[in-house]
Amino acid sequence: MRTDYCTGIDEKDIGKEVSLCGWVNSYRDHGGVIFIDLRDRSGLVQLVCDPADNVEAHKIANEVRDEYVIIAKGKIRARGEGLENPNLKTGKIEVVVDELTIENASEALPFVINDEKVNEEIRLKYRYLDLRKHKMFETFKLRSKATIAARNVLDAHGFLEVETPVLTKSTPEGARDYLVPSRVHGGEFYALPQSPQLFKQLLMVGGFDRYFQVAKCFRDEDLRADRQPEFTQIDMEMSFADQEDVIKVSEAMLEAIFKEAGVEIQTPFPRITYKEAMEKYGSDKPDLRYDLAMVDVEDIFARCSNEIFSTIASDTKKNRIKALKCPNGDNIFSKRQMKGFEDYVRKFGASGLGYFQYKEEGLKGPLTKFFEESDLQEIVDRCDLKVGDVVFFGAGEKKLVWDYMGRFRIFLAEQMDIIPEDRFEFVWVVDFPMFEVEEGKIKAMHHPFTMPKNLDVEDLEEVESIAYDIVLNGVELGGGSVRIHKSDIQAKIFELLGISDEEAQEKFGFLLEAFKYGAPPHAGIAFGLDRIIMLLSGSESIRDVIAFPKTQRAQCLLTQAPSGVDGEQLKELSIRIREMKKV
Ligand code: AMO
Repeated sequence: MRTDYCTGIDEKDIGKEVSLCGWVNSYRDHGGVIFIDLRDRSGLVQLVCDPADNVEAHKIANEVRDEYVIIAKGKIRARGEGLENPNLKTGKIEVVVDELTIENASEALPFVINDEKVNEEIRLKYRYLDLRKHKMFETFKLRSKATIAARNVLDAHGFLEVETPVLTKSTPEGARDYLVPSRVHGGEFYALPQSPQLFKQLLMVGGFDRYFQVAKCFRDEDLRADRQPEFTQIDMEMSFADQEDVIKVSEAMLEAIFKEAGVEIQTPFPRITYKEAMEKYGSDKPDLRYDLAMVDVEDIFARCSNEIFSTIASDTKKNRIKALKCPNGDNIFSKRQMKGFEDYVRKFGASGLGYFQYKEEGLKGPLTKFFEESDLQEIVDRCDLKVGDVVFFGAGEKKLVWDYMGRFRIFLAEQMDIIPEDRFEFVWVVDFPMFEVEEGKIKAMHHPFTMPKNLDVEDLEEVESIAYDIVLNGVELGGGSVRIHKSDIQAKIFELLGISDEEAQEKFGFLLEAFKYGAPPHAGIAFGLDRIIMLLSGSESIRDVIAFPKTQRAQCLLTQAPSGVDGEQLKELSIRIREMKKV
């Protein structure tokens, strides 16, 4: 039906006959001549319907209203002197219409398409209208190009795209499963995959050597700006490969993806160990677009005359005292604002937030009286303070201090307005702990198939794993590991995790059995495609890069899912609803 997209024509095409299709973005009647801004996915072009040129087309143009679907045939001409529109790509030309067809009318829309202030609920309810926004099309074009670029790189590296099942058994990623009842096996359920983890490992046992998939994953977890219940991974696995091999392919893939958005990124990316990330930035996904690194000062505080601080400082296995320098803070923030910072960290469990101001005459603040002059000087030197700087302190249990000081670091950077919007700072976080203790119970930090590095150390919390995350601007883009391929190590890990033989058999028996028949050494990674596109397109929320996303309450406002089903269907599935619980 069309010869060109609206913005596919320009001054070079003057005199050309075209057929254009799309929606009426707006129309104006100027003394009998009707101007229509025609919109398609590429953008806008102006149509002119002049009764002096064509009476019939003008008559039809009189009937068009906003968002009508039309097809216009006509000739391209230059716009008159002074009538050019510099804000439009096609602002120097217009199309004189000699045949106009209305393909469909439209009712008045529930919201104005390009109105930035429309609330998200309405936009999601009428998502198909929201998608008409040019910015939306650009985002999804980028998503498509980026996915194709990733596929091409992986294909060039010998990876095979294989689909794994969606109706499957629970996978070990640690969130709640979405369950699907079986009709044939009443009372039994499939689980939707949280990731293709176990199947990709089986593909390695199957000898495919290099696998990838653009895979839908499902996790029933608390939602945030960068989490959806249903999301997409670029998932991969390689045999006879180690961490370095995975990192190399990953960097090549990310380079190609970012190139699609015109962003040249520098590889190899820097690396930081988990320990260093926690100690310096209080987070395993540090935003390195700004510095603000924390410094340890336990040894200095151990010598101070304040018993609370000196006691905390004397046990560095359990506790931390962290200093965070705020350059020029004394001139940026008022006393009241600094007090407000304390309220901020208290929300995350801090008992307080101390600070010193570095003035011409030395360190000042309520805590200075507890320190010797030489120790105050040591704080100045260690934190590399300049006159006008402020240094904040967090003290307490190590994990708590990491957490609230890490959050405070980000909060401070936002308050100081020092986060560059146009920078992409990648970092690999490596050497994750194998285990973590939660409510007194030992758990695998990634999953129980991650290869440990030093299983021989006494303290389980000191065991490291060959696991790595890729972080961009403070967002975890992906994560993976070298896997255990030997059954004695696997058995040991299950034992340490308190997973009995029966439980291991019940949950992962098929994988353990497969590993008896010659499992190659293998390693892999999965990237959150939605998160990559979110950062690449500068979108605020993951919902902006998913065509039909769910709300923070895991609902689809367009289709009204989840929804009730009729009794017959439930009966067939051997299900009876006992209680309608909303959480
Ligand atoms: P992991 O659980 O770290 O690893 O997930 C990999 C990446 O998937 C993205 N992601 C999400 N994106 C949007 N919404 C969510 N709810 C969500 N959850 C995760 C993140 C994350 O970094 N099987 C392992 C990978 C492996 O070991 O190979 C896995 O799934 O960007």
